[in-house]
Amino acid sequence: MSQRFQHDVLVIGSGAAGLTLALTLPDNLSIAVLSKGELTNGSTYWAQGGVAAVLDHHDTVDSHVNDTLNAGAGLCREDAVRFTVEHSRQAIEWLIEQGVPFTRDDEHDREDGGFEFHLTREGGHSHRRIIHAADATGAAIFNTLLERTRQRGNVELLEQRVAVDLITERKLGRDGQRCLGAYVLNRRSGEVDTHHARFVVLATGGAAKVYLYTSNPDGACGDGIAMAWRAGCRVGNLEFNQFHPTCLYHPQAKSFLVTEALRGEGALLRLPNGERFMPRFDPREELAPRDIVARAIDHEMKRLGIDCVYLDISHKPADFVKNHFPTVYQRCLEFGIDITRQAIPVVPAAHYTCGGVLVDQAGRSDVAGLYAIGETSFTGLHGANRMASNSLLECFVYARSAAADIVANLDQAAMPTDLPAWDASQVTDSDEDVIIAHNWDELRRFMWDYVGIVRTTKRLQRAQHRVRLLLDEIDEFYSNYKVSRDLIELRNLAQVAELMILSAMARKESRGLHYTLDYPGLLPDAGDTILQPANADD
Ligand code: FAD
Ligand code: SIN
Repeated sequence: MSQRFQHDVLVIGSGAAGLTLALTLPDNLSIAVLSKGELTNGSTYWAQGGVAAVLDHHDTVDSHVNDTLNAGAGLCREDAVRFTVEHSRQAIEWLIEQGVPFTRDDEHDREDGGFEFHLTREGGHSHRRIIHAADATGAAIFNTLLERTRQRGNVELLEQRVAVDLITERKLGRDGQRCLGAYVLNRRSGEVDTHHARFVVLATGGAAKVYLYTSNPDGACGDGIAMAWRAGCRVGNLEFNQFHPTCLYHPQAKSFLVTEALRGEGALLRLPNGERFMPRFDPREELAPRDIVARAIDHEMKRLGIDCVYLDISHKPADFVKNHFPTVYQRCLEFGIDITRQAIPVVPAAHYTCGGVLVDQAGRSDVAGLYAIGETSFTGLHGANRMASNSLLECFVYARSAAADIVANLDQAAMPTDLPAWDASQVTDSDEDVIIAHNWDELRRFMWDYVGIVRTTKRLQRAQHRVRLLLDEIDEFYSNYKVSRDLIELRNLAQVAELMILSAMARKESRGLHYTLDYPGLLPDAGDTILQPANADD
């Protein structure tokens, strides 16, 4: 039997953004936080490098703002950048208060006013400003926030729940534009439940799973972006998919990232013959922004016909390497690579979705009562290329501003009533799951080949043609069979892939993460790529 639930705030997603929002809201509100698998299954848990913030007394807000603008290649919204950076110290102080065990700096000079935690460097940053917990920052943050959330009596953590679609007044043919809740597949009962909510928050992470090779965990399917689009929200800048330059290249190492902080602490990129190549591409060498490093690796791999390049930190003292990078050291050792003595084979992989659901500084989307925060949102912070470690920061800053906005608007949102239950009367169990698996593979492969690091108009047209065929097939499947997690994810991935392709086709230049051989130059005054849904909810 399907069930009904009522919440003041329904938070879809249990990563850094969702948990921060739940913890920031007052404890007299009833809050549900959904996760489509186990609570740890978002990207947050796997974050390595850290969180960028202005913490050192030699650093300044202007410097962090300028570095972000430079990495963003002329497309960041300066007000969003300034807002985020100005709130960075507050966000970190809040995390420290929650008990996040950031790595301390025993050597800093306190009399000089230095900061008591260790700060590392990553690409694009002109200053040491990444606070971290060794090389497993995401797990340290996630575990702390989860423990705090469990201590709160007003927050229900619901695992194995997959939001299928948002319920809106428009979809129900009622007057108004408000979001009223969501239909959610309970994977334990197999039923689709109806969740009524005064406010709904999308904190569903990114969509890097649209690519064959990715650093992201399996759930990064762009569900929030696709649901928001279907509900009538605009999306922005979806052509900017960030490829992390250094994921471990090993047949058994699925999605293992080798943190950029290695390069921040002196690791060098080398060709198989030991030669360095980054000095040929950018004066910042290994610490150039990610788009430049990933493209340089891609270029060298294609030029030489090699399967990977090498990241080498073996010239640093072994104790230093083991202390700073215990996770990378251990994981590589499991594959027979001792990083204190050998270079690490690495390749680029899809890592971060810079675009997403268009929101304002309070995380508000185009649909009243619906917020988007974290990687699923498009705030204007990242422009054409996200600077390393700015994404976790964005999760904290916007989750806190969205929480404040919800509190300020509580009296304007009553609990929705009379929502129809999910209609499963016309569908049957699928006996053709092979089609879903096949379509998943096909989608991710052509996105990698045609909408990857280097694009052309012809490749984009091919991808567009194929995604349309897939969408038709998926629609038919969706109308006839009971929903499953795989089907929901495939439907959303295909939807987001189409939006990415349309955005890439609309950009007639090469900027930041979008590089096309047909338009290699920069337009003098390019803007964001904003897409508006025509037939939302149809
Ligand atoms: P996530 O943490 O991805 O959480 C998404 C949540 O949404 C999950 O709970 C998932 O179950 C849920 N969800 C999704 N769809 C549905 C649905 N349909 N129904 C119900 N629930 C749903 N950034 C940095 O700033 N610094 C770093 O050092 C860093 N390192 C990284 C390392 C790796 C390996 C990766 C993959 C990313 C890294 N990033 C880093 C990026 C950063 O981790 C992410 O951008 C950030 O964690 C996203 O947080 P989030 O809360 O938006 O989403
Ligand atoms: C990393 O540790 O290299 C990832 C940092 C990020 O994605 O911001």
